[in-house]
Amino acid sequence: MKRQYIIANWKSNKTEVETRSWFAKISNNVNKEIIICPAFTVLSWAKKLIDQYSLPFKLGAQNISPFDEGSYTGEINGRQIQEFAQYVIIGHSERRRYFHEDEEILEKKVKMALSAGLIPIFCVEDSKASIPGGVTIVAYEPTLAIGTGNPDTPQNANATAKDIKDKSPGVRYVLYGGSVTAKNVNEFTRLPNLDGVLVGGASLNPSEFFEIIINA
Ligand code: PGA
Repeated sequence: MKRQYIIANWKSNKTEVETRSWFAKISNNVNKEIIICPAFTVLSWAKKLIDQYSLPFKLGAQNISPFDEGSYTGEINGRQIQEFAQYVIIGHSERRRYFHEDEEILEKKVKMALSAGLIPIFCVEDSKASIPGGVTIVAYEPTLAIGTGNPDTPQNANATAKDIKDKSPGVRYVLYGGSVTAKNVNEFTRLPNLDGVLVGGASLNPSEFFEIIINA
């Protein structure tokens, strides 16, 4: 059976209390790599809850400083993230669009992640995007599919994943992201070039996310 990644991108959602109730409701018993990416403010709390409920989940951050430690007010660097998480999402289209992150900065972020021992989950909008060296996990997320309820077609996502792997041989896993739900997840994960999903909105509800894990 191929290895699959199921990633929850909580974006700018959930307080401590809400994080606790999410973890209290979810449990997991399947053999898939489940990665929860909460906001920085609840990352350490999520780590405690994973231990408390003995969940086989890993954690990821949603961003990383392009700099090492030092005088960079407001930034969280790789060594700080690494105390809590094993993964980090880099290059999400919301970061590119609202925070003007370009290829140069994304490459720096990937370097910082790798030097801190974190695994970058590098997001691209299509197969033309450049992928920094050292990236092994890519999430293909077409902008028009994010948060719209209009996912890409599984066939197109699969073809794009194949293009990405052909173009960047270092990339071992390509995930699909954009309006994934418990209903449609298997249409994507059953295709040969897709190795999992990155889920935004539908990951906020523990029962739906649990169903996504089961159905994937
Ligand atoms: P969505 O978001 O599942 O809410 O469409 C996916 C993402 O932006 O990672």
